[in-house]
Amino acid sequence: ERSLLGLKDISKEEIVSILDRALHWEYHQDKVHNVLHGKFAANMFFENSTRTRFSFEIAEKRLGADVVNFSAATSSVEKGESIYDTVKTLESTGVDVGIIRLKPIGVLAEIAPKLNIPLINAGDGNNEHPTQALLDLYTMRKHFGSLEGLNVAIVGDVLHSRVARSNVFALRKFGCKVSFCTPPNMRMSDLDVPYISMEDALKADVVMMLRVQLERHESGMLSSAEGYRQNYGLTSERAAQIGKHAIIMHPAPFNRNVEIDDAVIESEQSRIFPQMSNGVPIRMAVVERALS
Ligand code: CP
Repeated sequence: ERSLLGLKDISKEEIVSILDRALHWEYHQDKVHNVLHGKFAANMFFENSTRTRFSFEIAEKRLGADVVNFSAATSSVEKGESIYDTVKTLESTGVDVGIIRLKPIGVLAEIAPKLNIPLINAGDGNNEHPTQALLDLYTMRKHFGSLEGLNVAIVGDVLHSRVARSNVFALRKFGCKVSFCTPPNMRMSDLDVPYISMEDALKADVVMMLRVQLERHESGMLSSAEGYRQNYGLTSERAAQIGKHAIIMHPAPFNRNVEIDDAVIESEQSRIFPQMSNGVPIRMAVVERALS
């Protein structure tokens, strides 16, 4: 049984093995399998989600697992029960694997050794979102054939982005050149990543746009949505400047016409909805790995 708390400390070989297994599952999604028959998977979301939660649920069901969904808003968390006590309770009822999204950083690493079931991080604060980065790598590998040496520009609110962090940790294992392009007040202080201009970001093989995470902002961080779009948005005019071989990505949800123009989201070079589709085979591989 193996937890997946982040990509910082897992090897390149393990990442390749997850991507390869996801490729297998991508071509075997036509029916429900019974590899996890008799196992219970609990999706425990202490923070809201659409893509991650539903793609985990579909992945678990495709593997034949029984799925229980936990929502903090309707649970005893509302009475003050801690995250550890909540997860320990689900473990005590017979759950075999816990998929957890939560706000506080450090809690997963603290509780995982005290539990007997594997945990999968579905996003913790602005720390890591490992399955998102895995599906991002899968999407890039599918398009380019290999990850080695790719030039990836991550544009936008990196300060609040667990997606950016997990991508940096993973992409660097493959010798990718990763750069950030972001407003001065949305920089990340602890990772040594070069900051580049929007003009240079458009020269990358992968232009990965990030959502402006208004719900995590202190007041006044974004003075004007249109001003942000003018300086850091992937407008149709800017999208026309990226290389013909390049792809556009975004983890979603997106603020349409703020960090990315409406017309760009479903343009030919965009891989945004395929990223969401790729989330299912990636999560099948990760849940299977946790229980095998
Ligand atoms: N990309 C992503 O994590 O989306 P959700 O917050 O909807 O799960």
